[in-house]
Amino acid sequence: MTNFKSEILSQKSIALGYMEMTFRWPEESEKPKPGQFLTIKIQEQPVPLLRRPFALSGFDEEQKSASIIYQVRGTGTKMLAALKAGDPLDVLSPLGNSFSLPAVDETPLLVAGGIGLGPILYFARELDKAGHSPVLIFGCREKSLIPDLPPLTNGRIQFCTDDGSAGFHGSSVDYMNSLSSDETGNAKVYSCGPTGMLKACHDFALSRDLSCETAMEEMMACGVGACMGCVVELAEDQDRKYARVCKDGPVFQSRTIKWT
Ligand SMILES: Cc1cc2nc3c(=O)[nH]c(=O)nc-3n(C[C@H](O)[C@H](O)[C@H](O)COP(=O)(O)OP(=O)(O)OC[C@H]3O[C@@H](n4cnc5c(N)ncnc54)[C@H](O)[C@@H]3O)c2cc1C
Ligand code: FES
Repeated sequence: MTNFKSEILSQKSIALGYMEMTFRWPEESEKPKPGQFLTIKIQEQPVPLLRRPFALSGFDEEQKSASIIYQVRGTGTKMLAALKAGDPLDVLSPLGNSFSLPAVDETPLLVAGGIGLGPILYFARELDKAGHSPVLIFGCREKSLIPDLPPLTNGRIQFCTDDGSAGFHGSSVDYMNSLSSDETGNAKVYSCGPTGMLKACHDFALSRDLSCETAMEEMMACGVGACMGCVVELAEDQDRKYARVCKDGPVFQSRTIKWT
């Protein structure tokens, strides 16, 4: 983990209310892994905000740049969206753990909803480059929320909309359930998005006897394991009751989480 002063390289809108920001990554810093996150100190004065956490959505080794995809929600993200190329950025990264690689004979089914797109997209691109055939399933309410994304080379991207205005008509979980057990027989599920979607991915994996990893996005204060502000409750068969999302996660085997 390093705290560094970066510079914004680009900032653009990729869907209604969603921005993609690319920024310089220090030469000497390790490459972040898919699933890991960073925190950004958005403003020095006059109102000091807590650092805001975002998952990495991409990394370019040649350009030494990294990116995040974020939804403009409240005070911090509105201020972030107002920044321009050339502006400085105070970054603490990489933080947390990462997704584990699938076995060579496993098909990665990567499921993203809302602000969960970033880490899933980064992982899908890395797997694609490594010769896997990932299936990235992105679900949203309607067409205007579908981001403009370059296609994968070996894998594919499946968009799903609740209102049927583009892609599959239904949620990402409806789409997964529409796949035959032959199609998902050797799948490994990865998910990031709203809690309801994460639980549904867990239930889907359980029902088909598949392994499922989930990246959690709890509210965070310190972001480095010191405050216990981000704990999630663990399943009863685990050797402890709680885990910190920022330090023990954000990626967990879904069966270790207590889903309510
Ligand atoms: C590990 C991790 C990774 C994340 N990755 C991303 C990402 O890649 N892209 C992205 O857009 N967001 C991501 N988030 C959520 C992001 O941190 C919040 O959306 C952001 O901090 C909101 O800041 P704000 O000042 O704009 O909102 P605030 O003014 O603080 O709050 C605005 C609204 O957003 C809600 N909110 C704030 N933080 C969170 C949160 N952590 N989870 C759910 N709801 C929240 C608040 O309850 C409130 O309703 C991530 C969070 C975590 C913990
Ligand atoms: S945010 Fe402080 S322990 Fe996780």
